[in-house]
Amino acid sequence: MASFNKLGVLTSGGDAPGMNSCVRAITRTALYHGHEVVGIHEGYHGLVNGFLSPFDAREVGGILQRGGTVLGTARSEEFYTEEGQRKGKAQLDEAGVDALVVIGGDGSMRGAMALANLGVRVLGIPASIDNDIWGTNMSIGVDTALNTIKDAIDKLRDTASSHRRAFIIETMGRNCGYLALMAGLIGGAEVVLIPESEVTIDEVAEAVEKAYKRGKTHSIVVVAEGASVKTAELAAAMDELKVGFSTRVTILGHVQRGGRPSAFDRLLATRFGVKAVEALLEGESEVMTGLSGRDISLAPLADVVSRQREANLDYFEMAKMLAY
Ligand code: F6P
Repeated sequence: MASFNKLGVLTSGGDAPGMNSCVRAITRTALYHGHEVVGIHEGYHGLVNGFLSPFDAREVGGILQRGGTVLGTARSEEFYTEEGQRKGKAQLDEAGVDALVVIGGDGSMRGAMALANLGVRVLGIPASIDNDIWGTNMSIGVDTALNTIKDAIDKLRDTASSHRRAFIIETMGRNCGYLALMAGLIGGAEVVLIPESEVTIDEVAEAVEKAYKRGKTHSIVVVAEGASVKTAELAAAMDELKVGFSTRVTILGHVQRGGRPSAFDRLLATRFGVKAVEALLEGESEVMTGLSGRDISLAPLADVVSRQREANLDYFEMAKMLAY
């Protein structure tokens, strides 16, 4: 397959720290190789509605270190329909965009696949704090979010141990327990609740009570938002079951999505962006960049959208062992 003339780039789904570093890398790599770049604003919603503007090198200046996405993002209902996808393809054709890079999460990769099925030359880049995308060890934004959660847990532990309290801390992650599990491990949690390995309320209460009896000054319970035991339900039960500590709840929410990208995320986003453009120049299409070991790999989009990323439950056992 030939190279391309004009490259489109969009960010889609939940914003993730590092998206801007990636947009910069894509734009500058394409310009360096003599190609035009078009920024598509507000994700697939902007694609369907023609929110396109030419991007030059200065357009992406000063964004490397900024959180969020300067391109804007959206969750587009219209793009789920075939009519919406056809409208999106028509906008690309009209603007002369003959290759597209989609930066986003698993839903965004499904959108990219739908466009590929309509004949668009498309390449995906995984960006989502959830780290739930098959085909890469790490997605853009995960490391920064994890650092935000780590800082929050450290701060909450200060107040927890001053008052001899248990804190239930809820993380994002949709149906994936990655953030909660890793945060529990590096934050020294007593118990971690994730969708991939269920723990009952009684088991949580027992672990916290035992920690109290062993003389711990505080107890941290990390709950993934997708876990079947819900945070409010757990907090009420812990009060009722009298686990020793009194209980407080902190739901971290969207603070986990914001902030300047960490060094790891900037580097990953930059490497993914450069690789995406180079892969398109070499004739690749319908693939997603990924981190495999220390290398940047390419995985077929068809596999990315049809396979499930497995949780590594060794970490779950490790967190339990270290909570002693
Ligand atoms: O996919 C990223 C994510 O932050 C999830 O962890 C969370 O469930 C969801 O997005 C929240 O979506 P919204 O920002 O649309 O409320």
